[in-house]
Amino acid sequence: MSKRTIVAMPGDGIGKVVLDEAIRVLDAAGFDAEYVHGDIGWEFWCTEGNPLPDRTLRLLEEHKIGLFGAITSKPKDKAAAELAPELRDKGFVYYSPIVSMRQRYDLDICMRPCKTFKGNPLNFIRRGFGNTIEEPEIDTMIFRQNTEGLYGGVEWTNPSDQVYDALMSHPKFKQNFEWCPRPELAVSTRIFTKKYTERIVRAAFEYAKSRGFDAVTVCEKPNVIRETSGMMLKIAQDLAKAEYPGIWVNNTNIDAQMMWLTKNPETYNVIVAGNMFGDIVSDGFAGLVGGLGFACSANIGPEIAVFEPTHGSAPKYADLNPSIVNPIAMILSACMMLDHIGEPEISNKIQKSVAEVIQEGKVKTYDMMKLPGKQDVIEKGAATTQQMADAVIAKIVK
Ligand code: NAI
Ligand code: MG
Repeated sequence: MSKRTIVAMPGDGIGKVVLDEAIRVLDAAGFDAEYVHGDIGWEFWCTEGNPLPDRTLRLLEEHKIGLFGAITSKPKDKAAAELAPELRDKGFVYYSPIVSMRQRYDLDICMRPCKTFKGNPLNFIRRGFGNTIEEPEIDTMIFRQNTEGLYGGVEWTNPSDQVYDALMSHPKFKQNFEWCPRPELAVSTRIFTKKYTERIVRAAFEYAKSRGFDAVTVCEKPNVIRETSGMMLKIAQDLAKAEYPGIWVNNTNIDAQMMWLTKNPETYNVIVAGNMFGDIVSDGFAGLVGGLGFACSANIGPEIAVFEPTHGSAPKYADLNPSIVNPIAMILSACMMLDHIGEPEISNKIQKSVAEVIQEGKVKTYDMMKLPGKQDVIEKGAATTQQMADAVIAKIVK
């Protein structure tokens, strides 16, 4: 097979540090690829008025697979203030490059695995029968619809006549909100389409089938949000009946699901949800298996796919030298990329090495030692970012 080309988009802050480490691990595991650098992030907002320059889009369109670190986003007024003086008042508006990338390339399938690594000191434990301590083994894949719903961006403050009239045509709006002066009204929509809802639900079923799991949990709130949550549940029930005999649809509400997180998380293997609830439930599960230093994700579209840790650019840690942040979330995101492009052996080799390093417990980044993140963590025995990657590499090449 010809050599793969991967678009490497480090972005800002610790994104730059962890992506380099993940590439070192990929190289050591024998993944034969060329990495082309894609500009993305705050720097390009400030200097070009665009955090996702067209040249990066062209690279993604050509090579189809992206590895992304993290970006920095700031509120509207700060974004405007940091724009280069010659670009000010020229109509540039900041938008999140990762959200734009997801929408532009239909990266509608977001997968966020949350899996317990044996020996991780950050694993969730609970009290069991007779005051015993239990450490449930969690193996959950969250399928989050990535482009629609509450994060679809269709929203208004002080809506126009047209929008207001449309809202007033709904009896509930008239009854509950007519009293509110229009300039004091903010509306964010939650739009679900059958096409994309079916795509995410189907992805969840396919995964359940491939792993031999007998249930898919739809985590929404159909008893209250009848139209959109109701649509997702109905699609799941219809699909199960028509195409996935042997897989049953479990229906949970997002609020109750968050409560059950600490009660029986090990019983949920496949969860599917809309954009916001998927975001919430995946952070919840990530917290049970080590938090941001371990949380990886895939954004998959019909043609293009981008893999990223769920953490941000952690500016507080960006300039620490040596770096102290945990590269595992980025390394595991790279493994998701390998699985997606048909390199499961290399992916498994890396994941096995990560698991061995964690289980051995000799090399731990500051988060795994539950220390406040400061430079002095190294003196306290924490591994640097590079040392953690080195430990994984040592297991790979042994
Ligand atoms: P963050 O995820 O960057 O950091 C929050 C905290 O989590 C850090 O202070 C640190 O204690 C911990 N943490 C994060 N990554 C870690 C790692 N690899 N190892 C160990 N600990 C880690 O979120 P925050 O501080 O809310 O946002 C910082 C910037 O990142 C903001 O500008 C935000 O908009 C952006 N952001 C970008 C994301 C992306 O690129 N996908 C996602 C989330 C935030
Ligand atoms: Mg989030």
